Amino acid sequence: MRRESSAATKAAITAVGSYVPNEVLTNQDLEQMVETNNEWIQSRTGIMERRIAKNPLHATGYLATKAAMNLLEKNDIDPLTIDLVLVATITPDFHVSSTAPYVASQIGAKNAFAFDLQAACSGFLYGMTTAAAFINSNQYKRVLLIGADKMSSIVDYTDRTTCIIFGDGAGAVLFEPSDNEFGYEDAVHGSDGIGKQYLNIKDGGSMHPISAATFEEKNQFVRQEGRTVFKYAVQHMSESALTLMNKHNLTTQDIQYVLPHQANQRIINATADRIGIEKEKVLVNIEKYGNTTAATLPLLLSDFESTFKKGDKLIFTAFGGGFTWGAAYLTWNYNYQNNKS
Ligand SMILES: CC(C)(COP(=O)(O)OP(=O)(O)OC[C@H]1O[C@@H](n2cnc3c(N)ncnc32)[C@H](O)[C@@H]1OP(=O)(O)O)[C@@H](O)C(=O)NCCC(=O)NCCS
Repeated sequence: MRRESSAATKAAITAVGSYVPNEVLTNQDLEQMVETNNEWIQSRTGIMERRIAKNPLHATGYLATKAAMNLLEKNDIDPLTIDLVLVATITPDFHVSSTAPYVASQIGAKNAFAFDLQAACSGFLYGMTTAAAFINSNQYKRVLLIGADKMSSIVDYTDRTTCIIFGDGAGAVLFEPSDNEFGYEDAVHGSDGIGKQYLNIKDGGSMHPISAATFEEKNQFVRQEGRTVFKYAVQHMSESALTLMNKHNLTTQDIQYVLPHQANQRIINATADRIGIEKEKVLVNIEKYGNTTAATLPLLLSDFESTFKKGDKLIFTAFGGGFTWGAAYLTWNYNYQNNKS
């Protein structure tokens, strides 16, 4: 496991935004599409509904742009002051042609450079470390980090083991040099290539380019061995969080909130149990959105932004395809009321 340490200039999240499509796909809707039922889905995953971008023109770049615009407008931020736009996603608009430059152009961030970051469900967490490193090194002042995924574009809606889990959404945060002692403190990250056999899209990459057989076997869709992914997720999310807490001598009493990747309510519960933290401190919104991959953590930040107080200690933990995983420790930089104009 590789560790990242903060340097002289502390980076902080100073603004948050989000976007989810209006269209809701409920468990009852899924009952009409595959052999499943509301009770099974809720008890096995905690999910009640998810958002789906039905308009084919509303791809990940659109979701990301809407989340970024929400952040900029809410906080009255001039897009020309942004230095870097990072988009964490596994569902880019196009395989060749990074989505982030499109988003930067759409929001008017003409002075920014932009690129995508692919670490599946850990994408936003890895993006936080990347954004913080650019600020820590004094290279850039304003980094817009967006986690966005249109999971409905890679889900097979005849496969009941995956279609119940995923949803579409986007969240955005702004990283800047902190103007107080609070901000991004530290993170731990890990990965293991064993994951490629348990969670993947088989065709469409350089290993298996698209062919007629791809569509016949429906290999353009995401597949997983759910039970195996479940076990790895609980192990690595809890171990990463505990490693970070031990490193900083943090007990569960010291921490105000844990923000876990929203993969499955049972994964979240098992992770919280292993960390030993009370359920009230564990933030959850999976019931509304399902698993939105790179968007789950910024959607949590957006939903709970008004709850956080300056100085709150937050632990993020995530796990995703690859496998990739990690945890981040952040002290919250602002009080919601005071921050807004
Ligand atoms: C996918 C997941 C919800 C399945 O839950 P589970 O408790 O592991 O269920 P299993 O896969 O063991 O299947 C149990 C039974 O339910 C059935 N089942 C699977 N999906 C079903 C559905 N949507 N509705 C009803 N029954 C279903 C299975 O066919 C199986 O039946 P069997 O015992 O007759 O073979 C769970 O494994 C999971 O969440 N894994 C992690 C997924 C994830 O987060 N991936 C993203 C990466 S972060």
